[in-house]
Amino acid sequence: MIKSHKLLFRFSLLILGFTLMLSDGLVAAEHPGYIDAPERRTTGIGKFYMDREISFVMGHQAAAWLNRPGRIQEEMPDEVVANMGLNPEHVVADIGAGSGYFSFRIAKLVPQGKVLAVDIQPEMLQLIEEQKARDGVTNIEGVLGEIDDPNLPANSIDAAIMVDAYHEFSHPFEMINGIYQALRPGGRIFLLEYRGEDASVPIRPLHKMTEEQVVREMSVFGLEWTDTLDFLPWQHMLIFTKS
Ligand SMILES: C[S@@+](CC[C@H](N)C(=O)[O-])C[C@H]1O[C@@H](n2cnc3c(N)ncnc32)[C@H](O)[C@@H]1O
Repeated sequence: MIKSHKLLFRFSLLILGFTLMLSDGLVAAEHPGYIDAPERRTTGIGKFYMDREISFVMGHQAAAWLNRPGRIQEEMPDEVVANMGLNPEHVVADIGAGSGYFSFRIAKLVPQGKVLAVDIQPEMLQLIEEQKARDGVTNIEGVLGEIDDPNLPANSIDAAIMVDAYHEFSHPFEMINGIYQALRPGGRIFLLEYRGEDASVPIRPLHKMTEEQVVREMSVFGLEWTDTLDFLPWQHMLIFTKS
């Protein structure tokens, strides 16, 4: 009798664990795999994900370039954040935040929420801390990520944005997996990249992505492609939703 109770208890734990896994969205997506092919290398790292060569990471030494005045016309950052449909209490992760060019703009739109500015370069997070102190901003938290982990708690964010960053993630599968798990149900991913379909966009090929490629890579996680906004001069803004 005692034995069968124990068995029943173990079985219930198993079912509970499985249900929690499902409700947390922790069921693993299938990894499409990486290919290291130095012989096919163009200007990137010679590592390929779903037929795309991954770009080099932009070093913190070039951070000033991220704040160049011309970027206002080229990338219309204020219009980008205005199109995110944020609520004042939202928690937004800016993944590959760099110097915080987008983090500070988003922070103004979520006064009762916060921005988690994630980057793998401590020097970038330091720049953000300095600007926070200068401008008296209190709702941005720097998060030191790893190349294969955004280091965000599960079920903790309403939205994630990646601007000109995803194409240089050396472990895109693990990064999106981590972001997917951090998103609350109904949470959205905003992915902005220079348009790979448009030869007239003046940036090197590996720093661009086509809409088709982005959608293909996100579909690995069952993310719903909700929209593509095309109001930017050179980039597209793709929106994905976690159901
Ligand atoms: C070209 S910068 C763009 C910065 C910012 N999004 C902007 O638009 O100003 C790309 C940033 O992504 C960061 N990065 C690269 N791989 C990353 C990863 N796996 N996780 C987090 N950040 C990463 C780099 O350190 C760099 O600061």
